[in-house]
Amino acid sequence: MITLITGATKGIGRAITFAFAEREYDLCITSRSAEDLKNMQKELLGKFPEIKIQFFAADLAVKKEREQLVAQINKSYSGLDIVVNNAGVYLGSESMLSEKEEIMRQSMEVNLFAPYDLTRSLIPLLKKSKQPHIINICSVASLQARSGAASYSVSKHAFLGFSRNLRAELMPHKIKVSSLLPGSTWSNSWAGADLPRERLMEPEDVAKVVLCAIDLSPSALMEEVVFGPMEGEF
Ligand SMILES: NC(=O)c1ccc[n+]([C@@H]2O[C@H](COP(=O)([O-])OP(=O)(O)OC[C@H]3O[C@@H](n4cnc5c(N)ncnc54)[C@H](OP(=O)(O)O)[C@@H]3O)[C@@H](O)[C@H]2O)c1
Repeated sequence: MITLITGATKGIGRAITFAFAEREYDLCITSRSAEDLKNMQKELLGKFPEIKIQFFAADLAVKKEREQLVAQINKSYSGLDIVVNNAGVYLGSESMLSEKEEIMRQSMEVNLFAPYDLTRSLIPLLKKSKQPHIINICSVASLQARSGAASYSVSKHAFLGFSRNLRAELMPHKIKVSSLLPGSTWSNSWAGADLPRERLMEPEDVAKVVLCAIDLSPSALMEEVVFGPMEGEF
């Protein structure tokens, strides 16, 4: 299996990448930092020497870099089995009405337009797979208003809308699309928050749900799943 994971170097993306590596899936990993990607490739190959790993650094907020990433992937692969649209940005702001416009634009670029552009461009490679699957890491904020992070919530609502429509469009092509809506999960996004870690889910919990989605039989699809901390959201 050949899997592409965006935002693979930290938090949830890292946990998903390691979960796939343990299954010896070949990996194509991306993030902005080439250094982090190189270190991660080294770490993965140390533990899983059999798998093939390629990495590409790209800032998914920038359309030109998204296009370059797609060109690199097309040059390196003749097919893809799984695409995990995980990279996302959480930009807190006091008020959507008075925040700098850049907060909304940046949130939409990374959380909506990046998976929109990448997915549309990668469909021909997915069509080469026997069991193609797109996993979109949305959020509980795809369903709820978020005071203090409204632009994030708007962009995640839009991403879920994209994911649901993608599912409908790809159904006749037998390309699976799963929308995962995790709640608060321990990651860099929470660094500095004065919270006991056990109040949050672990990134590995999200990776386990990804594996559940992948493991369903070819005739079944995990369409949309909401899950979160046992003691509730903040
Ligand atoms: N943590 C939560 O509580 C939570 C809850 C629900 C949903 N989610 C969603 O889960 C996903 C992962 O969240 P996380 O908390 O694991 O995030 P994280 O720890 O901040 O990691 C984000 C990953 O994405 C990469 N990235 C960030 N901005 C990028 C950009 N502009 N271009 C390319 N790569 C970029 C980062 O690497 P670089 O910095 O090197 O680029 C990193 O690998 C996001 O979509 C988030 O919205 C998170």
